[in-house]
Amino acid sequence: MNLIFLGAPGAGKGTAAEGIATKYSFASISTGAILREAIKNETELGLKAKSIIEAGELVPDDVIINIVKERIKAEDCKGGFILDGVPRTLEQAAMLDELGVIIDRVIQFDIEPQIVVDRLTGRRVCVDCGDTFHIESKPPEKDGICDRCSGHLIIRKDDEPSTIKERLRVYDELTKPLTEYYTKTGKLIHIDASKSIDEILSIITKALEL
Ligand code: AP5
Repeated sequence: MNLIFLGAPGAGKGTAAEGIATKYSFASISTGAILREAIKNETELGLKAKSIIEAGELVPDDVIINIVKERIKAEDCKGGFILDGVPRTLEQAAMLDELGVIIDRVIQFDIEPQIVVDRLTGRRVCVDCGDTFHIESKPPEKDGICDRCSGHLIIRKDDEPSTIKERLRVYDELTKPLTEYYTKTGKLIHIDASKSIDEILSIITKALEL
């Protein structure tokens, strides 16, 4: 089964993708995580993407779709995958369709902007493995240290308040139209993303078993 997780920045897509991917042995594909890894390794892609991401804007559609096109060829995608944060423009959705990528369900994470701001300002990520925590809802066992690999936890550069505002504006303008696009396919399922992490995993699990 192939899924898309659609929703505002900080809606909890990545956190839920990790849980669902583990439960069903799906590959979890986050274009944001792939781009951050490229920035860390100072690759050509990373050097191009850095300033765009830090400004809260979107990386060009063709660059994103090429990343996805290559990634879904990998062996771990054969049993199904989750596209986390992609597509996020109508053009990207059309490009995925043209590639013949079959999508079974689209999970739309519905959430109020104020909750998103609280989640993003409290988010901490590991510099080494990229694991994600939250100072209140998912605190690490040791302050500032990753539970998984003992790396240092930092605040993502694009989680600065002014960049969060721009990311939400970009979401409203370019990504929101995807809700209508996928509603028309009959594959879109809305979930209340303000609920707890465990509740969200259980809601998505039930939706997938329909
Ligand atoms: P990306 O990394 O995809 O960022 P995003 O979509 O803005 O999503 P986030 O990672 O910010 O949030 P999330 O919904 O995954 O929430 P999370 O689970 O972390 O992309 C970054 C940038 O890369 C983009 O801005 C763009 O520049 C570029 N990019 C990426 N894909 C692109 C594309 N397709 N096209 C063009 N450009 C692209 O949760 C947030 C926090 O809340 C965490 O601290 C978490 O612990 C906590 N939390 C999660 N769930 C819950 C819950 N249920 N209750 C309480 N707390 C929770």
